[in-house]
Amino acid sequence: MSRFLPVVAGVAFAVAAILPTVASAADPTDVVDYRKHIMKTIGAQAGAIGLIMQQKVPGDNFALHAETLALVASTALKAFEPKAEGGEAKPEVWAKWDDFSKKMKEFQAATADLAKTAQAGGIAAAGPKVQAAFSCKGCHDTYREKK
Ligand code: HEC
Repeated sequence: MSRFLPVVAGVAFAVAAILPTVASAADPTDVVDYRKHIMKTIGAQAGAIGLIMQQKVPGDNFALHAETLALVASTALKAFEPKAEGGEAKPEVWAKWDDFSKKMKEFQAATADLAKTAQAGGIAAAGPKVQAAFSCKGCHDTYREKK
């Protein structure tokens, strides 16, 4: 039995050496890029929904866009958790984290509701909920500095 000990100890050491690197040493630039990718995806889905609402393109994908928007919205809060200032995010994101995270959770809930309503009742049912779900400006005004 004891001859396995060095192996076990070696594995434990290797895990200990890897874990902190993954957990805490993310490059701030990568963190900023990551959340930008998420916000751009949100922007793209919101843009697609906007064109459908204005009846400029066919609305057949409406529920799918709403679902995609809700899915991406559910990844957004996590992306802001590491305090990596930069990009277009104002320092207020972390200084007023309680309010910021509340707004993000409300956004997430509203887009989830939109997706659910769109699946069940299509544009006719979900259309009136689009405006409430698009709380983008309410957050950007306080937490984003357009560069
Ligand atoms: C709870 C806050 C919050 C909500 C809600 C929110 N955003 Fe943002 N958004 C931000 C912040 C903060 C940034 C700046 C991120 C950065 O650059 O680090 C941002 C950045 C962006 C960007 C720029 C991405 C880039 O770098 O090119 C777009 C586009 C965007 N948001 C679209 C939207 C749209 C569309 C909605 C609504 C459907 C929305 N956002 C809802 C906080 C929010």
